[in-house]
Amino acid sequence: MGGVTAADAVIPVFADVDTGVDDAMALAYLFASADARVVGIASTAGNVPVDQVCANNLGLLELCGTSEIPVSKGSQRPLAIPLRTAEDTHGPEGIGYAQLPVGGGTLTDYDAAQAWVRAAREYPGELVGLAVGPLTNLALALRLEPALPRLLRRLVIMGGAFGYRGNTTPVAEWNVNVDPEAAAEVFSVWGAAWGLEPPAHLPIVLGLNLTENAVMTPSTLSRLAAAANSSTTPMSVLDDRGTRSAAANPLIRVLEDAMRFYFEFHFDQGEGYIAHLHDPLAAAVALDPDLVRYRQATVDVELTGTLTRGMTVPDWTGHWGRHLNARVGIDVDPGVFFERFIARVGPFAATLA
Ligand code: BDR
Ligand code: CA
Repeated sequence: MGGVTAADAVIPVFADVDTGVDDAMALAYLFASADARVVGIASTAGNVPVDQVCANNLGLLELCGTSEIPVSKGSQRPLAIPLRTAEDTHGPEGIGYAQLPVGGGTLTDYDAAQAWVRAAREYPGELVGLAVGPLTNLALALRLEPALPRLLRRLVIMGGAFGYRGNTTPVAEWNVNVDPEAAAEVFSVWGAAWGLEPPAHLPIVLGLNLTENAVMTPSTLSRLAAAANSSTTPMSVLDDRGTRSAAANPLIRVLEDAMRFYFEFHFDQGEGYIAHLHDPLAAAVALDPDLVRYRQATVDVELTGTLTRGMTVPDWTGHWGRHLNARVGIDVDPGVFFERFIARVGPFAATLA
């Protein structure tokens, strides 16, 4: 029998993360979204080493009651250079001051690159890929399965900076800078995947120019706790550093303890007692691309510049004569995003109390 059912509208999502404070928030958003089903998680080395990313993912799944989701371990290091990590930004274990439970789940017996390919083959034409860490494992997956772009319904990448400064070098964004060769390979392979045909879809690429609009504040975090029916104490820049959350709800407590570290990091960078929710915004766009306005481009990554290595360079007007390979996010209404984040994650957290 035909007819569209509620189940038809549920989007299978594969998430590639380097968890990471904002990666954890992104996963919580996906778990809280009735229109999404996370069918696999790739753990990628980035914010912290890959074993810590795996532990964080398994712990978060345990906390969220989603331990059945397969988690796969990725490469220990980028394609061509040593790994660089960001404990200064995300805390010694990658999730700020939070303490996650030990995850009861186990890692898959296939690696993260294979996990990408398996998920894409299992849901041909349906799977939405979300990559919010370095692109190491996605690049390796494209080597295993060059048809991956055609198998996916959509790919959303958080990475790069377009007409905007970097956050790791003056011109480079963190995810691209950790593994520039991988990012360059992904853009190059994607551009060529359709040959002379018009591409069925271009990767959505959300750089810092877009994601830094998603500014989390203590008052927004308090609204999240309220939506979870959780008691808490609003955070303030005047609090002692490392003050632990008083939230009654276990997920809100973890998110607040994680965000506290992220607020302190941004404050020390001179940005105020706020934090940019790069990865949660990308997760929201993965489920609803209409949240953002785009401009198409051919994107490449500078690999040899002595000052500009890791820079994402967009060709907006076809100077290079190469395939388009990106829809670059250029505008977003952060209010709509935060309303949706709170409306989803708050009630989801309430179910875990
Ligand atoms: C990106 O870098 C990481 O530290 C964050 O998790 C995000 O994915 C922002 O540049
Ligand atoms: Ca990330």
